Amino acid sequence: MKNVARVRGIEIAYEDAGRGRPVVLLHGFPFNRSLWREQVESLSATHRVITPDLRGHGETTVVAELATMEEMAEDLAALLDELNVGRTVVGGLSMGGYVTLAFLRAHPERVGALVLADTRPQADTDEARRTREETARRALADGMEPITDAMLPKLLAPATREQRPDMVARVREMILGTNPHGAAAALRGMAVRRDQTDLLPGIGVPTLIIVGSEDAITPPSDSATMQAKIKGSHLLKIEGAGHVSNVERPGEFNRALAEFLGGLPF
Ligand code: MLT
Repeated sequence: MKNVARVRGIEIAYEDAGRGRPVVLLHGFPFNRSLWREQVESLSATHRVITPDLRGHGETTVVAELATMEEMAEDLAALLDELNVGRTVVGGLSMGGYVTLAFLRAHPERVGALVLADTRPQADTDEARRTREETARRALADGMEPITDAMLPKLLAPATREQRPDMVARVREMILGTNPHGAAAALRGMAVRRDQTDLLPGIGVPTLIIVGSEDAITPPSDSATMQAKIKGSHLLKIEGAGHVSNVERPGEFNRALAEFLGGLPF
């Protein structure tokens, strides 16, 4: 069900399903909250699952030219204030993971546990920044169609692309549904994101890291680096999944999440 919060001068669309310990899940780029459909279905029996559309995505307001990870993290803090949620589990996939780390840096007291899926702590290289700017301009000039065609082969594992036309269609639809201005703002925001590696050794909350073995955007080596730096963290590599591991392998992803959440001390 769609809810709307008016905070920080924008309208944030979100879903708030189930009751119990709150779990926030942040989608990647250029997706929307429907990315978490299977996780909401499975977890909301035992948890309160909050899935916002990040600024510029889904049904949330598209703003300005630059949507930084910090802005998105502050949007989340304001949304949680509105929902009277104090400490919560925060998880994100890819760009959602970048926002999760920005949120942790700004509001460590609000994070009870972390889920970092198909993401990485480091900033962009100069080359990646240039590519982002080109992609942003392309989205603004030609819309999301060329972005979709360029991204799909990298987002999904080869086996998913060959055998699961339903998943390909779902991911394609999410990308095509993203506003080009929102996409460009997020691309520029990701390009200027800070390196969060220094945050990792200080993380003292339970952390689950998940990555698809075929993730071509944030490969398993990034997740291994995070696991090595975050004390006591647990890493699950989902064999055969690509970058969108929660969509490609919802069963394994959900089992790992449920087990992790079931073992939390708070
Ligand atoms: C995402 O899935 O959120 C993006 O591909 C992340 C990125 O481009 O760095």
